[in-house]
Amino acid sequence: MSLLLNRSRFGNADNSGKTLSRVEAEALFQEWVLNPRLQLHMKQVAYLMKCWAIEKEQLDEAGQWRWEMAGLLHDADWDQWPEQHCKKIIEELERRNVDPEIIHAIASHGPNHFGVEPETNMDKMLFAFDELSGLVHAYSLMRPGGYDGMELKGVKKRLKEKSFAANVSREDISDACTRAGIGLDELISYIIAKQGDVK
Ligand SMILES: [Fe+2]
Repeated sequence: MSLLLNRSRFGNADNSGKTLSRVEAEALFQEWVLNPRLQLHMKQVAYLMKCWAIEKEQLDEAGQWRWEMAGLLHDADWDQWPEQHCKKIIEELERRNVDPEIIHAIASHGPNHFGVEPETNMDKMLFAFDELSGLVHAYSLMRPGGYDGMELKGVKKRLKEKSFAANVSREDISDACTRAGIGLDELISYIIAKQGDVK
């Protein structure tokens, strides 16, 4: 099954700056994503994106929401239409006249699957958070305290165990860090510090 999108332009430049409202985005999320585990993953990535947009990019509220929205909806079609991932959500957001940069971030969150290169910081951080967020969460589930007391070295040990969260691509993680210009340790530490806030 190929998920290649076979295009590199998304959305319409006339829609620059346009987003869904939070109510609209959450309604789409609830309608399309039925699996609670996937819902949690998407909320976690949305939160990481929002935190990063505030703390590292120093964006205003509108900018923060653009990053958060990309995270919240990046896997919206994975649950019910895996063979159309992420074509379906892209087309839906294009139909709804969403900012092309948000659509591009979603389209490039798996360059090795969708064939679209991450370009902006938003693109690169969505790719970087996506896979690693899942591995850190899997680790939290096997710890009695969850995220409490979680350490960088524990996550790195699991990362080296090929059988742990085996569906998480180690190659994608290191590729994403390189593209984002972020050290693996920094990225893991950031996720550990934030992700436990999402329930
Ligand atoms: Fe994801």
